[in-house]
Amino acid sequence: MPTFSKRVSTFGTTIFSEINNLAAQYGAVNLGQGRPDFDTPNDVIQASVKALTDGQHNQYPPGNGTAELRKGVADHANRFYNLDIDPDRGVLATSGGTEAVFSSILGLVDPGDEVIVIEPYFDSYVPNLIMAGAIPVYVPLHPPEWTLDPDELRKAFTPKTRAILWNSPQNPTGRVFTVEEMTLVADLCKEHDVIVIADEVYEHLVFEPAQHVPMATLPGMFERTVTINSLGKSYSATGWKLGWVYGHPDLVAGAMRAHQFVTFAVHHPSQIAAGYALHLPGSYYEEFQAMYTVKRDLMMEALTGAGIKAKVPEGTYFVLGDFSDVFDGDDMAFTQHLIKNIGVACIPPSPFYCAEHRYIAGKLARFAFCKSDDTLREAGERMKKLKQ
Ligand SMILES: Cc1ncc(COP(=O)(O)O)c(C=O)c1O
Repeated sequence: MPTFSKRVSTFGTTIFSEINNLAAQYGAVNLGQGRPDFDTPNDVIQASVKALTDGQHNQYPPGNGTAELRKGVADHANRFYNLDIDPDRGVLATSGGTEAVFSSILGLVDPGDEVIVIEPYFDSYVPNLIMAGAIPVYVPLHPPEWTLDPDELRKAFTPKTRAILWNSPQNPTGRVFTVEEMTLVADLCKEHDVIVIADEVYEHLVFEPAQHVPMATLPGMFERTVTINSLGKSYSATGWKLGWVYGHPDLVAGAMRAHQFVTFAVHHPSQIAAGYALHLPGSYYEEFQAMYTVKRDLMMEALTGAGIKAKVPEGTYFVLGDFSDVFDGDDMAFTQHLIKNIGVACIPPSPFYCAEHRYIAGKLARFAFCKSDDTLREAGERMKKLKQ
């Protein structure tokens, strides 16, 4: 008797679980998963505690999300991007950004449709497409600057293309794409009548002078873009697994149709706290960015001290380092070496590529710097041994 469906038979264990287990086994400083080792802001936690204890938020919320969350998302999009979002029909609360992407794919993409995936990609995208019966079409970013080749991108658009999975600020390259780069994508989407699933979970993790521009704000793109977001990243609450989709009501309706039969609704008290968090003042985001700028610089210092070359990230809390000057082997072997012999965990990026393009990841490792400054300094100390 086959134990797995054909749909999931090619899926292994995610690289994040594998690395977490290995890091724990060897006592490594874990710069693998993008999991902050510091807490959620206390006032956001208190908003959640209040929602848990006020006797009003422990039963099913509305399937599309609480009024507080939906208003929070609409107000936030208006405040930062001047977008006009309908809080009733243009927002959907989901179980993290992960479900937001999956429900959008299930609700907007048909079996046999082609969907363009930019590599290296966030790990759930391709399994999501496979489960939806869609066909991924891969377009790699080119190191060391992690840019798109316009001809490669253009060739990826065919009469069968339904959507592109767009991620900016981009995990794992740390790119924040420029308006010029995004305009090329947008123009091709308009020319070929393609929708954009724009994963912008790192919208507030941007380092000056880079600027995050939502795909939905480009001319003619609002009506063909759903935007994905997550409480986890901007408010250091990855464990809450609360996310959302926002955009044109006709597109959000597709994601909603899928969502109602995936989870129906998501954690009620967290949505009340999210309504609070989304209204935090501008100073919160300024301090958040300043805190992460220090962490990014500590991370870059650690990599330089270890002989690892990297483009300084423009956004996100990830950096992709090139270890070819200090280790002779592929990304999988390097990760094992770093965890077992040096005591630092990172993520090998080859699982974020199709087989044809996997060679690009050969000498690269992803490091997460959403860690305390002391943790980053300790990682830097340990990694100096790489050069010896
Ligand atoms: C690009 C990207 N999209 C989506 C997610 C998932 O977000 P969540 O943890 O809210 O499901 C992540 C998490 O790391 C991510 O990096």
